[in-house]
Amino acid sequence: TGTLNVTELAEKLGKSPNEIIKKLMFAGVMANKNQDLDDDTIELIASEYGVTMKKEEEVEKSDLLQYIEAEDEKKLKERPPVVTIMGHVDHGKTTLLDSIRNTRVTAGEAGGITQHIGAYQIRTEEGKKITFLDTPGHAAFTSMRSRGAQVTDIAILVVAADDGVMPQTVEAINHAKAANVPIIVAVNKMDKEAANPDRVMQELTEYELVSEDWGGDTIFVSMSALKGEGIDDLLEMILLVAEVEELKANPNRRADGTVIEAELDKGRGSVASLLVQNGTLRVGDPIVVGNTFGRVRAMVNDLGKRIKKAGPSTPVEITGLSHVPQAGDRFVVFEDEKTARQIGELRQQKQLEERRGEQSKVSLEDLFEKI
Ligand code: GTP
Ligand code: MG
Repeated sequence: TGTLNVTELAEKLGKSPNEIIKKLMFAGVMANKNQDLDDDTIELIASEYGVTMKKEEEVEKSDLLQYIEAEDEKKLKERPPVVTIMGHVDHGKTTLLDSIRNTRVTAGEAGGITQHIGAYQIRTEEGKKITFLDTPGHAAFTSMRSRGAQVTDIAILVVAADDGVMPQTVEAINHAKAANVPIIVAVNKMDKEAANPDRVMQELTEYELVSEDWGGDTIFVSMSALKGEGIDDLLEMILLVAEVEELKANPNRRADGTVIEAELDKGRGSVASLLVQNGTLRVGDPIVVGNTFGRVRAMVNDLGKRIKKAGPSTPVEITGLSHVPQAGDRFVVFEDEKTARQIGELRQQKQLEERRGEQSKVSLEDLFEKI
């Protein structure tokens, strides 16, 4: 069963048993340290500390979201859009990402060595920020989505003007549509002799992507990622769509967001790239990431610069976690380390139990096969 006694509940909440006993008394429950509590009482006491507790067996990966406090609409402020670049093989996704990234060097942010942290942020000439996910293609999109995470606000669909709509172009469209993410079409390789943008426009009408020139409402941008032509137009269109979408977050609260990628580094231990989606993440914050936890020990931005805090839509790399999380895992910052540790340990334990369960299932099947 998922019941806890007073001491265990106190531990989970990071409080002393005496404090819990007092709270119980005010709630009309006379209890000693070893007394078992029913689920409703546990929930009631936990909620007094702003913690939503569910029975242990109900705690799942994405359930981390249950610990996020409700948002006050009035505190929301504009945040930068998070953009993913998708398209068929060889249509120019990587070239486009590189060429966008290079634009910011001229914007006076040179000096940093670009880190690969799975995403980067640029600042346009008007001072507006845009975040790009650096892992182009469908794999990133689908693995995130399969874990229930949605990080993309806008999808850029790259279509080579000399090649037209191809199978992965269609896949990309389907992913973006399933996620309800607006699409901007980048008609790339316009510098090529064989470029035929009209054909691209024609072919895309079949997928309900009709250019504004043709009476539709999809934005098309002609470009050459290789020559750096049309990049400014594209950035401008991204900001336009972002404005329409009214993307907002509250920078003045504890952070939450999603893991973009993570790995074990020999020297630094568990290293995770995170996208802050709400709130502000700070060095020293107690944090639960997927089924792991810790304290943000060090934080660097996409230029490899050490930073102390990061607001909404900022990609960062952190160290200080007990284990390596997975791409698509959520993270939530907690008020104190004890709570983060308790929730983190609970989730770790749950994961271990699940794994053991799977293993015993497998061995049983093996057994039956042998019989
Ligand atoms: P995958 O990662 O393999 O799916 O490909 P990709 O979509 O990232 O394409 P990538 O950027 O690697 O470009 C493929 C080839 O097209 C490279 O040789 C690029 O130099 C070339 N290329 C990309 N953009 C342009 C462009 O605007 N004009 C021309 N002429 N070539 C381009
Ligand atoms: Mg590529």
